[in-house]
Amino acid sequence: MDPLETGNRRDFLKLGALAGLGFGLGAIPSAEAKPDPAQVMRRAAADIGATRPRPAGSKPVWDLTTKAMEKIRVGIIGLNRGRAHVASCVATPFVEVVAVCDILDERAKAQAEVVRKKTGQMPAIYSGDENAWEKMVARDDIDVVYVATPWEWHKPMAIRAMELGKHAFLEVNCGLTVDECWDIVDASEKYQRHCPILENCCYGEEELFVLNLQRQGFFGDLKHGECAYIHDQRGKPGASFLDAGRDWRRRYSTLLQGNLYPTHGLGTISQYMGVGRGDAFKYAVSVSSPEFGLSQLRERLKPDRDRSKDEKFVNGDMSTTIVKTELGRTIVVQHDNTSPRPYTRGNLLSGSLATFAGYPNRLAIDVDNPSSLLDPKEKRNSHSWTYEGEKLKKFMTANMHPLLKKLMVDAKKVGGHGGMDHVMNYRFLDCIRQGITPDMTVYDAASWSALLDLSDRSVRDGSIPVTYPDFTRGGWKTLKPLPIIPNPPFPSLSYFPTANR
Ligand SMILES: NC(=O)c1ccc[n+]([C@@H]2O[C@H](COP(=O)([O-])OP(=O)(O)OC[C@H]3O[C@@H](n4cnc5c(N)ncnc54)[C@H](O)[C@@H]3O)[C@@H](O)[C@H]2O)c1
Repeated sequence: MDPLETGNRRDFLKLGALAGLGFGLGAIPSAEAKPDPAQVMRRAAADIGATRPRPAGSKPVWDLTTKAMEKIRVGIIGLNRGRAHVASCVATPFVEVVAVCDILDERAKAQAEVVRKKTGQMPAIYSGDENAWEKMVARDDIDVVYVATPWEWHKPMAIRAMELGKHAFLEVNCGLTVDECWDIVDASEKYQRHCPILENCCYGEEELFVLNLQRQGFFGDLKHGECAYIHDQRGKPGASFLDAGRDWRRRYSTLLQGNLYPTHGLGTISQYMGVGRGDAFKYAVSVSSPEFGLSQLRERLKPDRDRSKDEKFVNGDMSTTIVKTELGRTIVVQHDNTSPRPYTRGNLLSGSLATFAGYPNRLAIDVDNPSSLLDPKEKRNSHSWTYEGEKLKKFMTANMHPLLKKLMVDAKKVGGHGGMDHVMNYRFLDCIRQGITPDMTVYDAASWSALLDLSDRSVRDGSIPVTYPDFTRGGWKTLKPLPIIPNPPFPSLSYFPTANR
């Protein structure tokens, strides 16, 4: 029997290590080879925390500049989540959607029609089979490829796109294993193309507000963050976690025992703390609760067991990881998508001068906080939230991130998770237009995604600390944070074009 079916991934890790298997840069699947997560996970590195040496001839991309362009031409693969990116791209005047791709012909045609209606130009359509994307990325008139497919496709699609000279934007995961994350870093450095993940949660209104305050020293010395992706995704009969469209997502609950969706929370806290630029993840310790969610959902909705009948759900419902950073800070990262509780991303940042907590938003400000943003006459104490509700809303509006101030009006119209999808897309594409490094680099993509594998490894080994690989290969020690928010005094926002909006 396949040990993965019994949840015993460790046997495969050993097998993979013994066989010296590697999934190198050149290993792009042939037209017949559909990537299989269970197979990929067999190839996980034995020494998960080790730094892979930089291949000769490659160089870092953390401050990569490319040729500035007036127009950015994009191709989008995977047109469920990808619809949000189509909507955003057609609302951005310096972006042209040149091609769309999905296995499902009707999805590709529908999105091509959205583009035609909005811009008057019909994009090329690639559909009908799972390798149609290869023809799309081979075009010579595409600058950026969006990858919004199931995760197992991300690495092959991204590497091929970069090899062919495109920047690759990936939907919140860049690798199923630490090995795959290294492959993505190596490809980005080899081909000198950007490969960020599309971590839209870094562009939420609250998150940008906190980042704005943090960059102005409002929180003092940072010590601790808490974040999560807690989202009851069990769904309803006919559209549940057990139905056809969710097969690839559910499969990870049969393969892994850790945090199945780490980047929404971890990305945000990493940006607050400057992880990868001044600080770095050092090790992670992970624990998991028992599993009830999917098994009980199956008993309730599919007593005949249907398509999931042979699946054994090995992942505990609540995954909790503590990450320690090189500067000694701590971060709690949680995941649970099968329990009855309200959505939360946690979003807590604690420093010596203030603490922000999200869901609902609250801000505690130390009596000695010297920030010029505060009214010196205001009475404060450290035992209660200084601002919450309407009072906090007012303070947030007054201190809104400059990026958001400019984009909020458009973003609300375009939509997509309250506008944050558009803010992110606009910002990423505008960075490519200017030829500067986007706010998230391939090193961020790799270190945030790697928690998938690292948390699993920790749980399987009795919650031992697992060394965090340093994808910057020491670069974090000297790198300065990117100007997602320029340090005050804020330079002009002229890089957001207004004339044609
Ligand atoms: N950032 C966010 O808020 C957010 C929200 C939802 C999903 N996501 C991410 O988006 C990605 C897709 O998630 P989803 O929920 O849309 O998945 P989905 O399974 O609902 O849709 C995936 C789409 O990709 C297509 N596809 C699959 N393999 C393909 C291939 N080889 N070539 C072309 N098309 C292919 C499918 O036909 C389908 O239309 C994932 O990475 C997920 O994590 C992010």
